[in-house]
Amino acid sequence: MKVALVIHSYTGNTMGIADKIGAALVRKGHDVSLFHIKAKNENPNQIKGIELENTPNLKGFDHVIFGAPTRGMNLSMVMQLFLATLSEGHQSASVYVTHFFPFKWMGGSQSIKTFLKLSSNKLDIQKTSIINWKNKNRDKEIQCLVYQFSDLD
Ligand SMILES: Cc1cc2nc3c(=O)[nH]c(=O)nc-3n(C[C@H](O)[C@H](O)[C@H](O)COP(=O)(O)O)c2cc1C
Repeated sequence: MKVALVIHSYTGNTMGIADKIGAALVRKGHDVSLFHIKAKNENPNQIKGIELENTPNLKGFDHVIFGAPTRGMNLSMVMQLFLATLSEGHQSASVYVTHFFPFKWMGGSQSIKTFLKLSSNKLDIQKTSIINWKNKNRDKEIQCLVYQFSDLD
């Protein structure tokens, strides 16, 4: 399958997981493209006046995996802006978010909710996952995510 990974990551947590998913997909023989979406003026504390540096074209991919951090109890604004650039459709996709605080309700759950809302008429979401960076079982949870998200056949 032709798979795109579309990732927003500032300090590297979300991208580190994407690298693992990408490697697992390649091992299974998939054709993988990784897109790191960035803001021209990235400032993690800013939610207004953000301009995207790149908006990859996702046409022709069989499946797209999105990854983004939680910021201010919600999905990162860079990912929110990127979703706004997508046209209507039913592209197969999955999404994970990373967050730091100990409970999912402290940002992770809301981030997924926002992603689903903003992509409802654009993407057909197959799988979602939330990784809590402070959780002592983090490595196991990441392993589980990589296993699930790279299981595409
Ligand atoms: C400005 C800012 C706001 C954040 N807000 C939250 C939050 O509301 N809830 C949470 O659990 N983590 C929050 N975090 C932590 C990040 O979501 C977490 O460290 C994430 O894994 C960072 O991903 P990245 O390394 O890919 O950028 C925040 C981080 C920053 C910089």
